[in-house]
Amino acid sequence: MERLNVGLAKGERVLDRMLDLGIDLAHECGGTLACASCCIIVHEGAQTLSPPSDDELDMLERAQADDPGSRLACQAIAAGGDVVLEIPARKIPARVAGSAPVSVTEGAAKFLAAQLAKHPGAVAVRLSVQPSGCSGFGYRIDPADSIREGDGVFESGAVRIAVDALSLPYLQGATLDLVQEGLARRLRFDNPNARRSCGCGESFGA
Ligand code: FES
Repeated sequence: MERLNVGLAKGERVLDRMLDLGIDLAHECGGTLACASCCIIVHEGAQTLSPPSDDELDMLERAQADDPGSRLACQAIAAGGDVVLEIPARKIPARVAGSAPVSVTEGAAKFLAAQLAKHPGAVAVRLSVQPSGCSGFGYRIDPADSIREGDGVFESGAVRIAVDALSLPYLQGATLDLVQEGLARRLRFDNPNARRSCGCGESFGA
């Protein structure tokens, strides 16, 4: 990708400036620090930008954005001046070799297979995370009509499971189980990437 020279006013967010200039930079979470799709590599002028917070560094690490100068454009605020930057080719998070990104217990797999059977045309169950809930992120489990580029796809029992690329860093190593709560059964994630979970167990902070 070619390098871009971007002039920034004091207090301006790099993402906003790039979009104003018509640069097509992804920003899938809308700048809420929940996706890493706005990743850029700053080659010159990094010292004129606000330093990355721990949360930004954490998100960059999860997205495997390890090129020197990597920043999230939605988090970088200018002190004023020019920066030279590049939009890196999006990296697909690596899976742990030879293993499924999420362990699905036998009970959960049977439950998912039964749910999937109610959706003719669905080719898999899609697991993903989205900004929501009491603790920052929420889990989603949906029937998938197609497999997308970058999905982590694996079989568990009789069911095919797809984890979308942006969610992989958050779900890698998680276990999906079926638990009995009173008279109801429900799916529950045990996620080592969650630093904190809320009481309802349906959202987490990463
Ligand atoms: S737009 Fe999602 S982290 Fe920047």
